[in-house]
Amino acid sequence: MLPPARISPMNFPPELISFLKKSERIAILTGAGISAESGLNTFRDAQTGYWSQYRPEDLATPQAFTRDPKLVWDWYAMRRKKVAEASPNSGHFALVEMEKHVPNFTLITQNVDGYHRQAGSQNVLELHGNIQQVRCFDGCGIVKSWEESDDVPHCPKCGAYLRPDVVWFGESLPHDTLIAAHQATLACQAFFSIGTSGLVQPAASLAHTARQRGALVVEINLDPTPLTPSVDFALHGKSGEILPALVEAVFGGQ
Ligand code: APR
Repeated sequence: MLPPARISPMNFPPELISFLKKSERIAILTGAGISAESGLNTFRDAQTGYWSQYRPEDLATPQAFTRDPKLVWDWYAMRRKKVAEASPNSGHFALVEMEKHVPNFTLITQNVDGYHRQAGSQNVLELHGNIQQVRCFDGCGIVKSWEESDDVPHCPKCGAYLRPDVVWFGESLPHDTLIAAHQATLACQAFFSIGTSGLVQPAASLAHTARQRGALVVEINLDPTPLTPSVDFALHGKSGEILPALVEAVFGGQ
């Protein structure tokens, strides 16, 4: 296998453009990098201020919430506030535009910021949940929208604590969502990995699954990742710049 072509982002190879023009089934995986240009930290960015004393891996766990529900609740309240104060960027909107031109388009995201739906994407699979929702910590089934609360709120049905409706380290992903993500990955003709370090399973395996099924794999990321040697095209740069240019090059004027 030849090393992936490395292209100055705005000079796309004709074979990539022509392949995407005739692709009817595209699957996309996004990570925190696509929201970086909205001003949100990525998962591997250093935490700031009061939170710099903690690692996300030490807060985003059921054990951390059991040990100190208020600390974990406050961390998510801080993150939710940053999400509410920022907004989707040109990379999110470029994917909304791409979806309009592709008959079978699936957007799989590891992000919990809700920006893809907020930007207008329709077929979105949130592998790691959504920070705008909470659910019963004791699993009685209650799921509801996040409501501002200084104290950790309680489940209206059983009285247990309510927790952010996101997947914590050590927890399994929502089954139906993961199945749908795999099905879209198996069926796609082109797979994009955008703004993700490709370090966390099972999301990180999707690109390899697509590749094994013969799909064209494109990586759009600021930095090289462990996936880079396996992709057909590695577009290294900012997704907020590359995606609008790529969508224009493929679908512009249609
Ligand atoms: N454009 C494109 N890529 C970017 C940009 C940008 N403007 N800014 C940063 N990146 C890239 C970084 O180079 C990095 O490779 O985005 C990637 C973000 O990687 P992570 O911070 O590891 O985030 P992510 O891959 O989404 O993490 C996956 O790990 O911690 C868990 O559940 C958490 O969903 C998260 C998962």
